[in-house]
Formats: sequence, structure tokens, C-alpha cells
Amino acid sequence: MSEHDNPVAACDAQGADSPSEWAVLRQVSRNRLRKRTIEHIKNRTTDLAEGSMQLDRSVYTDPVRHAEEREVLFRQRPVLAAFSGDLPGPGDTFLFDEVGPPILLVRNKAGQVNAFLNMCMHRAAKLVTECKRKIRMSCKFHGWTYDLDGKLVGIPGSEGFADLDRTQRNLIPVPVAEWHGLIFVRAVPNGEPIDIIAHLGEGFARELASLELENARPMKTTRIDVDANWKYALDTYGEGYHFATLHPSSIGALALSNIMSYDNYGPHHRLAMPRAEFLEYSDKPEEEWPDTTYGGLFYIFPNVVINTNSIKDGRQFYGVSKVFPGEHVGRATSLLTTYKPGHMMDHPETEPWTEMHDFIHKVVSTEDYSVSQDGQRNMEWAPDSFKPVLGANELALQNIHRHIQALLDEAHGAQK
Ligand code: FES
Ligand SMILES: [Fe+2]
Repeated sequence: MSEHDNPVAACDAQGADSPSEWAVLRQVSRNRLRKRTIEHIKNRTTDLAEGSMQLDRSVYTDPVRHAEEREVLFRQRPVLAAFSGDLPGPGDTFLFDEVGPPILLVRNKAGQVNAFLNMCMHRAAKLVTECKRKIRMSCKFHGWTYDLDGKLVGIPGSEGFADLDRTQRNLIPVPVAEWHGLIFVRAVPNGEPIDIIAHLGEGFARELASLELENARPMKTTRIDVDANWKYALDTYGEGYHFATLHPSSIGALALSNIMSYDNYGPHHRLAMPRAEFLEYSDKPEEEWPDTTYGGLFYIFPNVVINTNSIKDGRQFYGVSKVFPGEHVGRATSLLTTYKPGHMMDHPETEPWTEMHDFIHKVVSTEDYSVSQDGQRNMEWAPDSFKPVLGANELALQNIHRHIQALLDEAHGAQK
């Protein structure tokens, strides 16, 4: 692999020549990230911002700001709705209800993903209520039926609608784009199309493409509702400063605290915390290190984290957390899904992945989000003079909060 001076950059974001080339790029990238992280272990350092950053507590508690974030970040801009593996074949559907309008994803006969408001064009009943494979979609209220491209193809008792222009009663599309296993929507009916490369940036897009997410398949999904602002919940994914103190017997036993390699990609990032097993060989010459199965955490702005990590015996998983703002400022929802990567499909069993899922769910719900809930309550009662502070070692969180603020400021500017 040493002949690749910059192999990831050398690969076009639109696609490598073969899946195995992505695997090579993925491994090179992981080994490099580990090398930087081991340097931090040896030097007792971590990546740092220039200084600390103070926030207003209203960032977490202001209902007006909360409504603006939902509109600006989660409706007007692209949001990751699903992975391709969530609806792998023609007729598969996926329901995405977390950003406001109920949205229906459906893969058509040609294999393309369509997205619509999940709303029957008769009298607005929710059209699809279960993610089952279908040939057509029928409304449970009066039975109006649509094909997989949203075209109205059947009206029971059609004589009652003889004067209706049926062409105006097809499902209402919302912008959707599928790219290397990622499916983004913009939750605005008939809204602007999505440019995924522009949204991700080429460098980050290449790293994500190398994960071959299109071949990943979901093993288990769970939901956690939390009484905390969505950013307080999300913040727990952006630093390893808390590992030893909050997670002494769970994550803290698997990874070292307060050491982080940070790669910034505009609003997005990739993080690596040192895995405990790095210590087993970090004193040996690099040539003797085995390839690492740890790929770090990929954060897709504004609310998705993909943990690319290992289970045991070389098995790897992709643990995806999506954090959404709730109906009010102190409420959030997380959807956790654990995927088996495509390159793990020669392992037919599912238990190692579902067990890992249960472990992560338990840690997030009982450790991380318990702090988020208590902290949220305190934020609401704290005097305005109190400013939560993000240390220089919490630089990923600084960047997230800065980008959110910039987009809100931009939206305010556009309104003036
Ligand atoms: S609302 Fe769907 S058929 Fe009547
Ligand atoms: Fe945590």
C-alpha cells in the first residue's frame, strides 16, 4: 500500500474502479488515522482548538431558536433519512417521520428511490404505515391506490370522482438523492434538488464512499426519546473527554479518555479515539502493527454519527445514531441502527451485531442521555450569566455549534 501517496484523494468521489479498491482505501485511511492517534498516546496529547468557546445557555433552551433549527437545519437542508440497505429492493418502503412532514421512501421497479409526502391525495390519510415490500400502495381509509412512482392508479367507486383530474392527484414528491448507500431528503414538498457532493464536500464524500455503505444491511434499530435538547444529546458523540469518568466500566474500558484525532470537513468531521488494543502494539515498530478494524466516528452535519468499529474476532459494525429535535426545545429523539457491513456478509450469524447494538443502546440511554437529561434541566434553571463552555479539547463540538449558529445567522440575514 505504500506506493499510494494519497490514495483516498486519488480516487474520484463518484466511484472507484471496483469494490476492492474501496476496501484498500478504507484500510489505508484507518491505518493512518490510528498512527496519528498512537502518536497522541505516546506524546500524551490530543487535537486541540485554539481556545475554549462559551455558549449561551439559550442554545439549549430557547423555543424560538429550536423552531428555527428545525426549519433551517432539518427541513430546508438535506438530512440523512436512511441507508440504501434499509430499502434494498424494488417495492421496499421506509418511513421517515422525524423532521416534521411524514415522508415515505419507496424503491421503484427500476431500483431508484422515490420520496413523497406520506399522504393520500384523497383526504390526507397516512398512506403507508408499515415498511413492507409492496407492488402498489393502497390507502387504508378508502383504498385509493398508487404505483411505486407515486402515480394514482386506482380509485374504488371511481364514478364518485368522474369529474376529477386524476393527474393532479399523484403523490407529492420531496427531493431525494441516493449516493453510495446514503439516502438524503430535503423535507420540503417540491423543493430544490439535493447535490450530495456539494453537501458533503469531496474529501469527506470519498471517505464515506470507501465505507461501501451501499452493501451494509441493518441488524437492529431502536429508538430513544430523551428529555433534552437534541444538541445536548448529540454533543455526547463528539468528544472522548468523558469516557473514563462517565463510562468507567463500558466505553471507558474499550477506549482511552481525552485523546482524539480530529479531521474537519467543513461542518462535518471524523474523529478517532484510541482503542485500548492500540496499547498492545503501540511500542513496536509500525511495520509490525496489524491492520486496524477501527475506522473512527463519521459525523454528517447536522445530526448523524456513523461509528465504524469492531466487535470481536475481526468482525466489524457500523453503528449509526441519528438525533432529531423533538416537538419542544427540551425533547429529542434518537434512532440507533446497527448495520453489518457488506464485507462482513460471509459471517451468516446476526447475534454479534445485535448484541453490540444492545450494548450501545444501554450505554447511550443509561449513561450519556441520563447526563443530557439532568444537564438540560439545569440549563433551563440556570441564570443567564451561566455560559456552558466547550474546551479546546472539545473542538469537534465547537465546530458543530459554530456551523449551526452560522446557518441560523444566514437565515436571519436572508429574512431582513
Ligand atoms: S384518504 Fe386515502 S383513500 Fe380516502
Ligand atoms: Fe458517551
